[in-house]
Amino acid sequence: MQIRNETATDKAAIRRITEAAFAGAGHASGTESAIVDALREAGTLTLSLVAEDGGEVVGHVAFSPVAIGEGAPESLGGWFGLGPVSVRPDRQRKGIGAALIREGLSRLRGQGAGGCVVMGDPDYYLRFGFGHDPDLRFEGVPPEYFMRLVLKGRGPAGAVTYQPAFYET
Ligand SMILES: CC(C)(COP(=O)(O)OP(=O)(O)OC[C@H]1O[C@@H](n2cnc3c(N)ncnc32)[C@H](O)[C@@H]1OP(=O)(O)O)[C@@H](O)C(=O)NCCC(=O)NCCS
Repeated sequence: MQIRNETATDKAAIRRITEAAFAGAGHASGTESAIVDALREAGTLTLSLVAEDGGEVVGHVAFSPVAIGEGAPESLGGWFGLGPVSVRPDRQRKGIGAALIREGLSRLRGQGAGGCVVMGDPDYYLRFGFGHDPDLRFEGVPPEYFMRLVLKGRGPAGAVTYQPAFYET
């Protein structure tokens, strides 16, 4: 299996995998694949990685800039939101999601990012070093389901805002 940047020819496969993965997820909004498309169109898909196996795309992860408090992403040294992340249902629980997330976080660290936030199941994300920080708020989500990973410097404080694609899609 190989983790690589998305290319223009991956768009349809990413859409299919995202729809299939979230179709079975209780917390899904049904807009996840449209969010990925909207991020790409807006030029805010900072990192879009696919997992390819045997010539087929079997997983995908997106990272996009977030704003925290009054701070624009750049002024914070770059904070990013992880997600959506999707693995084809017949390939889940085989380490593909973890490989995508680890590669994405390693690339963010390599480019000097301040950190990353994620909304999701703590049982899953704690293994990557994410943890809840009472100084970071995200409206409408139980606190323990909103986590952050500091990659550089001190963690910022305030309310977190994702890209418009997450709210307008
Ligand atoms: C979440 C997802 C990306 C994980 O990818 P994956 O390749 O299946 O996961 P990994 O193989 O890296 O990790 C497997 C382990 O993660 C845990 N895990 C996987 N999905 C989980 C979930 N939704 N909640 C809690 N734990 C989860 C399990 O402990 C599993 O270990 P096990 O096989 O011993 O039970 C994938 O399951 C998926 O596409 N789910 C549907 C879409 C979704 O919910 N995306 C995340 C939104 S926050």
